Amino acid sequence: MANYKEIIATYKDKPGGIIEAFHAIQKEFNYIPEEALREAAKAFGLSEAEAFGVATFYSYFSVKKRGKYIIRVCTSAPCMVAGGDKLLEALENYLGIKLGETTADGRFTLEATECVGQCQGTPVITINGKPIPEVTPERIPEILSSYK
Ligand code: FES
Repeated sequence: MANYKEIIATYKDKPGGIIEAFHAIQKEFNYIPEEALREAAKAFGLSEAEAFGVATFYSYFSVKKRGKYIIRVCTSAPCMVAGGDKLLEALENYLGIKLGETTADGRFTLEATECVGQCQGTPVITINGKPIPEVTPERIPEILSSYK
């Protein structure tokens, strides 16, 4: 895993570099850790509040701790009708977290998504952006076991 200090140093002298640095950090960590925000503020000559403002202005960025793997459950109508609601409940129970939360071991974050264009395989989840079709509550342990 790359170090956020190295990432920030790479973009330090570029115009608009803080945005690119945040992108790269989020790609690596799935969110922007507080220490990285502080480091970026220093490197780009901003106050911490300003750096925080940049990170939270774009809804794409998350400053809340997220897991290594982001599980998103499609909550659009076709998936919900096909059992997506039960699936979401089963995932919450299996992981012991609620929607929007991250497991204590930092492995999984559970989020919702709109239709991901895979309606032929409802209900659908994505894990770090990869769609997985026809997920049933019974398949959850097997699917998640390959994400260490
Ligand atoms: S509604 Fe879920 S993938 Fe389209």
